[in-house]
Amino acid sequence: MAHPTTSAAAQTDAFATDVYGGLTQSPQKTLPSKYLYDAVGSALFEVITHLPEYGLTRADERLIKQHVPDVLAALGRVDTVVELGSGNGRKTRWVLEACAQRQPCTYYPIEISATALAQCSQALSDIVGVKVRGIEREYLPGLQQMVSLRQGDAPMLVLFLGSTIGNFPRPEAQRFLAEVRKVMRPGDGLLLGTDLVKPKQALVDAYDDPLGVTAAFNLNLLVRMNSELGANFDLRRFQHEARFNVDTSAIEMHIRSCVQQSVHIPGAGLTVEFQAGETIWTEISRKYLAADVLAMGAWAGFTSAGQWLDEDWPFAETLLVAA
Ligand code: TRP
Repeated sequence: MAHPTTSAAAQTDAFATDVYGGLTQSPQKTLPSKYLYDAVGSALFEVITHLPEYGLTRADERLIKQHVPDVLAALGRVDTVVELGSGNGRKTRWVLEACAQRQPCTYYPIEISATALAQCSQALSDIVGVKVRGIEREYLPGLQQMVSLRQGDAPMLVLFLGSTIGNFPRPEAQRFLAEVRKVMRPGDGLLLGTDLVKPKQALVDAYDDPLGVTAAFNLNLLVRMNSELGANFDLRRFQHEARFNVDTSAIEMHIRSCVQQSVHIPGAGLTVEFQAGETIWTEISRKYLAADVLAMGAWAGFTSAGQWLDEDWPFAETLLVAA
């Protein structure tokens, strides 16, 4: 690994601080969604990507598989591929195999989940002509660290797939793209996957599947507070909830307290009171119009070199080139 990993104690401290900050917020309690992805959470998310109701990941993969040649043709001889959020490597394999057919390249997955990083590095280590260099950090610091290692002047391809950009509120999404642009050189590419607006019921089903996998994924945040911070959340007294907000065109994920109750979280130095029906807001998943993506890219300093849409599950893959 290129960077020393953060100690377990420091990670627990950061979690405790964020839990304290989020659960003392009023009127809406929150928890940062990055904590969804521990070993259990990452495994549950992997299951979500196979659910019939959640077409997002399969659409993303279909588009990548089909259009990687167009992406590479537009950029030229890419020797560096960086990915924000490594996932399990299944989609990335299509990109790396196509790249390595042209020239040797280095792949830098940037990921805060050590488990996900190890799995993806393992899964992709067999591709001839590709060196994998995992970076266990948040996206922007990881990207900055990675560009400081950059050599030569071949273009770099940054992958930001799975519609993770949708997990930022709109103004932050734009600012984030502009920050990414700043560490890129003119001619570098950003392949951006975005889930598109679709009928409300399809969206609610995608984020509240009848099998209950998404509910488990969300409620796992409570399990983490129990095991890592000594909390006493009774999971049977909380429920997963997915709401569609028409005004912001976003799915909002909450954990709802079924009854009035108080919960102790010794590791965060906190006792939290919940009213019956009160929620913790855990995630937002914005849905875009294809044209919005181009507008956001232009605002952040990119030109568009291609945009491809999936027929079965409205989703867009957009190739933005640093201007
Ligand atoms: N990035 C994924 C998305 O927005 C994350 C996700 C899928 C998610 N299902 C979820 C996050 C349920 C929280 C709860 O589609």
